[in-house]
Amino acid sequence: MAIQWFPGHMHLTQKAIAERVKDTDVVIELLDARLPASSANPMLSQLTSSRPTLKVLNKQDLADPARTAQWLAHFNAQPATRAIGLDASQSTPAQQLVKACHELAPNRGGLAKPMRVLICGIPNVGKSTLINTLTGSKKAKTGDEAGITKLEQRITLTDDFYLYDTPGMLWPRIIVAKSGYNLAASGAIGRNAFDDEEVALELLAYLKTHYPAAVATRFKLDMTAHDIAAMKDEDLLEAIARKRGAILGKGRVNLQKASEIVMHEFRAGNFGRITLETPEEFAQWLAAGQQLDAERQMKKAARGNKRGGAGGAPEADVPSESS
Ligand code: G4P
Repeated sequence: MAIQWFPGHMHLTQKAIAERVKDTDVVIELLDARLPASSANPMLSQLTSSRPTLKVLNKQDLADPARTAQWLAHFNAQPATRAIGLDASQSTPAQQLVKACHELAPNRGGLAKPMRVLICGIPNVGKSTLINTLTGSKKAKTGDEAGITKLEQRITLTDDFYLYDTPGMLWPRIIVAKSGYNLAASGAIGRNAFDDEEVALELLAYLKTHYPAAVATRFKLDMTAHDIAAMKDEDLLEAIARKRGAILGKGRVNLQKASEIVMHEFRAGNFGRITLETPEEFAQWLAAGQQLDAERQMKKAARGNKRGGAGGAPEADVPSESS
């Protein structure tokens, strides 16, 4: 899926993060617990790879608890990494965060060596909500329009624990197609950047395979989970349209409306607790995406060579996605 994301200010944010990382002890990477790998910005991993990372699987109240446990184990097995689950219902998340950061950087603490933490995440992952809870105030939302001044904003959690906020940032070229769909379904990507029906069909394809009963229950479809799983994605979307009265007239269904309904229901958590990827699935998607991307780059280089121009140089500045 081609996502129309224009980096514009992204380079400024990148530069500012690279600068800030030098004086950072721990990076907190806020992830969406429903799509823990797809919501990880690969550009960020590159920028912060020299620092220990606390992966916070946020919105865990919306995610499948068994899968959250799998993801936490997966991340906790990585070097210099800790992972915890969190959601907005926790009124005092600071304790958990501070403890995990101290485990990652045990030499920091006290007024002489305060803990300096950089908090990052894609748009809509819940960063403002978390920071507001941490500070106990209703601060202005850190805009997604990057600005160095915003990056310099320091939040003092305790006398010896500083948090530096960053603007929500996506990356310019999504190599894992499934990640694009999952990000779009979650609401991380502006709605003009994707096709609603395409995203809804992908979402239904996953839900009918992994959570068919939840789909049947939510839309009051008079079918067994087995029937749902066996349906074509398009037929399922049409059945949902009819059930929800998304009709254009003369019996034709309004697939646009039905697609919006499916995405809204998912974002609101109305199917129950759902996670759109497991570590094993993502590893497969990543391998396939990387292979496709390598082929694309080779074709592009070959076209450039034929023309004899510089256009064949591979797009080396964009990192590949990995968890
Ligand atoms: P951002 O700064 O990372 O862009 O995200 P922000 O905090 O604005 O949160 C984005 C949306 O996610 C908000 O919903 C917020 O309420 C919701 N949210 C944040 N944390 C959690 C969580 O742990 N669980 C759940 N279920 N939702 C969470 P919204 O509908 O866009 O706005 P609002 O009307 O709820 O404020």
